[in-house]
Amino acid sequence: MNTRSSGHADNSAKLYMHSPLVPPVTLVTGASTGIGREIAQLLAERGARVFGTARDPRSAKPIPGVEFVRLDVTDDASVAEAVKGIVQKAGPIQHLINNAGYAAVGALEETSIEEAKEQFETNFFGVLRVTNAVLPGMRASQSGRIVNISSVVGFVPAPYWGIYAASKHAVEGYTETLDHEIRRFGVRALLVEPAYTKSQISGNAKFPRSQIPAYAAEKKRIIAFADRSVEQGDDPRLVAEAVWTALTSRSPRLRYPVGKGVSLSRLRRFVPAGMFDRSLRKEFQLD
Ligand SMILES: NC(=O)c1ccc[n+]([C@@H]2O[C@H](COP(=O)([O-])OP(=O)(O)OC[C@H]3O[C@@H](n4cnc5c(N)ncnc54)[C@H](OP(=O)(O)O)[C@@H]3O)[C@@H](O)[C@H]2O)c1
Repeated sequence: MNTRSSGHADNSAKLYMHSPLVPPVTLVTGASTGIGREIAQLLAERGARVFGTARDPRSAKPIPGVEFVRLDVTDDASVAEAVKGIVQKAGPIQHLINNAGYAAVGALEETSIEEAKEQFETNFFGVLRVTNAVLPGMRASQSGRIVNISSVVGFVPAPYWGIYAASKHAVEGYTETLDHEIRRFGVRALLVEPAYTKSQISGNAKFPRSQIPAYAAEKKRIIAFADRSVEQGDDPRLVAEAVWTALTSRSPRLRYPVGKGVSLSRLRRFVPAGMFDRSLRKEFQLD
């Protein structure tokens, strides 16, 4: 059993069992705040050699057992440099958690093509970029796990978070296919789907430059509802535990809905489409 100390008091019996001598080299994107920070911390506590990323590592509060590296998921050179540096220092990356992301918030009609592309550049192409940089090493060592942090809005609609939801739907479709292509190399791609979770996501949201007054009142109400829901949302530790399960399960599932997302996932699968549509409109009190 790996007993590498992370500097944390570890009261948990959970430690990596499958790599007794070498702690799995683990890359967590967007580890400076919120969910990514919690994932990096939990995996370090349980014995991984964790590299967490931030666009400005100097501004990231240190996490015991986590080495911060500079990485912007929208920049090819930044991704290549970060992955190369980690591999040179620690060897092939065995676990990748694609967590970095932000929310573009606003009515779809208000969102310009440029703003939509920016959202996809981070939330979707960022996942593709980092994954493509890490996969050659995983294929060569015939093992690895990739966990993509999606969202419940990767499988349900999200009024006024529509481009964000579209980017997460893209991550879902991408991951499901990727998992089929790479399984024969001993590598799996899996999804963790948080619901509202306490983090900095509301404060870091981006809004469209152009506003259409016809949407203003409903948008304001729904954004305030979403912000309150994040404030009162699930503990990010729950998401980190789901990532842990995805990384360590002998027979992993493709999707791990988290917290309140579990019941939403069941509703989506088992409730007739018309009933789901009505209950979503009622939940958001849409006119
Ligand atoms: N909170 C929720 O309710 C919720 C629900 C479902 C899914 N999620 C997903 O969970 C993930 C984490 O979000 P969060 O809620 O923890 O939000 P957060 O607190 O705002 O954290 C976002 C992280 O992403 C990083 N990031 C943003 N743009 C980046 C870029 N271009 N390159 C590299 N890193 C970048 C940020 O790092 P730097 O700014 O330091 O670079 C930060 O560490 C996201 O994928 C989000 O969509 C969140």
